Amino acid sequence: MREVAVIGVGMSQWGELWRSSLRDLFVDAALAAVKDAGVDVKKIDSLVVGCMTSGLFTGQEHLGALMADYLGVKGIPATRVESACASGGVAFRTGFLEVASGMSDLVLVGGVEKMTDVSADQATRALSAASDFAYEAYNGITFPALYAMIARSHMERYGTTREQLALVAVKNHENALKNPKAQYHLKLSVEGVLKSVLVADPLRLMDCSPLTDGAAAAVLCPLEKAKKGAKRWVKVAGIGQATDTIALSSRPDPTWFEATSLAAQRAMRMAGVKPSGIDFAEVHDCFTIAEICAIEALGFCKPGEGGRFTEEGHTALGGSKPINTSGGLKAKGHPVGASGVAQIVELVEQLRGEAGDRKVKGARRGLAQNMGGTCGSAVVSILEKV
Ligand code: COA
Repeated sequence: MREVAVIGVGMSQWGELWRSSLRDLFVDAALAAVKDAGVDVKKIDSLVVGCMTSGLFTGQEHLGALMADYLGVKGIPATRVESACASGGVAFRTGFLEVASGMSDLVLVGGVEKMTDVSADQATRALSAASDFAYEAYNGITFPALYAMIARSHMERYGTTREQLALVAVKNHENALKNPKAQYHLKLSVEGVLKSVLVADPLRLMDCSPLTDGAAAAVLCPLEKAKKGAKRWVKVAGIGQATDTIALSSRPDPTWFEATSLAAQRAMRMAGVKPSGIDFAEVHDCFTIAEICAIEALGFCKPGEGGRFTEEGHTALGGSKPINTSGGLKAKGHPVGASGVAQIVELVEQLRGEAGDRKVKGARRGLAQNMGGTCGSAVVSILEKV
């Protein structure tokens, strides 16, 4: 297997973007990544597109060929990848495998979703397709409700407090103030989170990631080729993917993200590192409780201690393990198929020392954790400055 490097990254604008279509968003991000890599778009060997459910949000499927055409590279192989909200992470792993295997030398991986052209009710219905539909969505359980059950379970089992959940949102919104690409530039307080409208008890509006239009992209090539010809590069040191039951009710412990734990073990084994060797991470905070469960499953703290770890400031910028320096899904936004690729964008910008005011000092190794549904699928990627 060849070693792989990321040589360019890019993002479209993120937010409620009524003037940009699904293809506009994708092409904006893809061209930004190609420009950042300093390569000719016509030299791309293969395209991988992560997207969860463009059919339900916009009526458009068949994204591989569509995006290749609008990018001006029709003729090349183009593959659409879906794993609910982990679609972007799985697309990145697919692109990695294509380069590592020797099949392709220059791969463009993108993620995209356009979620705001439908009503919030329709969006909630579309997102519920990522649950075990027959057992969960069919019976009226939405994603906020599923994560509310996880939160309630964590609170009862471990004594995690409502304030600790709120602190995740406060921190991620604070980080987003330093990220010009974030959807929300909104300073939050714990009181502000606790007073926001109740969505699914105990989760409130400010515990939820928003509905977002946006895309992100990355250009991958063999590390050896990057060293010879690229302007700059970051090595993909490890990558792991795993699955769990989709239905929350089938799990022995709803607060434990087994797929994240398995994916992390695989990625860390490949990179030859332990959780203590990771300098910072982007994790899948689709709801505040999800960040707490993710940092536990990644081994950054013990099971049950995620709330306290957050309250003690370890996960803040400047803490011992900065989490979601980009603002995370909570404040940067969560265009579901794009989020996993956008996590890679943040890792690369941090490792290249280009994260501006949100820079993690001395960062050499970053981790991205992207998951589908209530962690029925997960991808963990570790990027390293070489
Ligand atoms: N965080 C911060 N602000 C938010 C927000 C969020 N999650 N969601 C909406 N807002 C803001 C809007 O920008 C708007 O602000 P404005 O009045 O200044 O324009 C205001 O709150 C009201 O927004 P509204 O459009 O009425 O919200 P909504 O009802 O359409 O959406 C949710 C709220 C909770 C339903 C929606 O954010 C949601 O579904 N989130 C979860 C997404 C999800 O499940 N993703 C998959 C995870 S697995």
